[in-house]
Amino acid sequence: MANRRDFIKKTALGTIGVSTVFSCKEVTKEEQNAVASTTNSTPNKPLIISTWKHGFPANEAAWKTLNEGGTGIDAVEAGVRIPEGDPKERSVGYGGLPDREGKVTLDACIMDHNSNCGSVAFLQGIKHPISVARKVMEDTPHVMLTGEGALQFALSKGFKEENLLTPESEKDWKKWLEKSKYKPVINIENHDTISMLAIDNNGNISGACTTSGAAWKMHGRVGDSPIIGAGLFLDNEVGAAAATGLGEAVIRTAGSAMVVEQMRMGKSPAEACKIIVERIYEKHKNHRDMEYLQVGFIAINKQGEYGGYSLRSGFDFAVCDTEKGNRMEDAQFKMTWDAQ
Ligand code: GLY
Repeated sequence: MANRRDFIKKTALGTIGVSTVFSCKEVTKEEQNAVASTTNSTPNKPLIISTWKHGFPANEAAWKTLNEGGTGIDAVEAGVRIPEGDPKERSVGYGGLPDREGKVTLDACIMDHNSNCGSVAFLQGIKHPISVARKVMEDTPHVMLTGEGALQFALSKGFKEENLLTPESEKDWKKWLEKSKYKPVINIENHDTISMLAIDNNGNISGACTTSGAAWKMHGRVGDSPIIGAGLFLDNEVGAAAATGLGEAVIRTAGSAMVVEQMRMGKSPAEACKIIVERIYEKHKNHRDMEYLQVGFIAINKQGEYGGYSLRSGFDFAVCDTEKGNRMEDAQFKMTWDAQ
């Protein structure tokens, strides 16, 4: 029987057939504790990493797609469709919290190893914006479609229009209307956005990012998640990064693109995420957004190292690889919520 090193080598050479089953199990607490830091120095592929707890089932679906012979772009699309379709996930797709007019408006983008990318923003009535974003990438001469144009394009591609406002989200919206105070809350119970990055069996990097955006936002508001360079960026020669948190702050700083540039200059994924979070803090420490500002990044590099870092405590992410299976890891952070 092949040892693990042989197994990884064969995987790297692409000699594993579709019948090969990679382990993507939940790891024990002891195994999880053995992950002492958020970096990993062993070349590592395939690798999937995604934001928050909804990343765990998303990673499983993405991993299954790779096992069945899918590419990285197939995997990230399949992965993030899980929280998009889950009405219990209140920050992504179906069941996402609406804007202040009670409308669920969705943003998503996807990017492949050839720097092809597609994006939709302010899309209503379509449960899987990530799949529409992929169609924009593959079937149009453009990168981004928005609003009514994105909806018409989706319908022309056979997507079904449906009501995405669940009774629970409608109830929460009506409660919010009583005070109508806009104060985004982004923490471990009330997270936002699934971003997923993957290195496939061929060593190619892909990424996807999808969200219903900030709850109670102004109608028409678009965050960082559909914006290539802000919510997601990758360079197949270097690595990939993706964001979660307050989109306005990530857009102001071109967050994910900057994390990739830090890796290009030799920083590890964890260091690169930290540098850009520190920069966001410096730019925002006297800003009106600081009271509720949370941003976090995940990143991977070409060697299969990964990392995550957030401004405030409470950001976690799901990682899946052949060595340790699928697990949650806590990101390191700059400050707790009490600190200013
Ligand atoms: N990060 C998601 C948003 O701000 O819309």
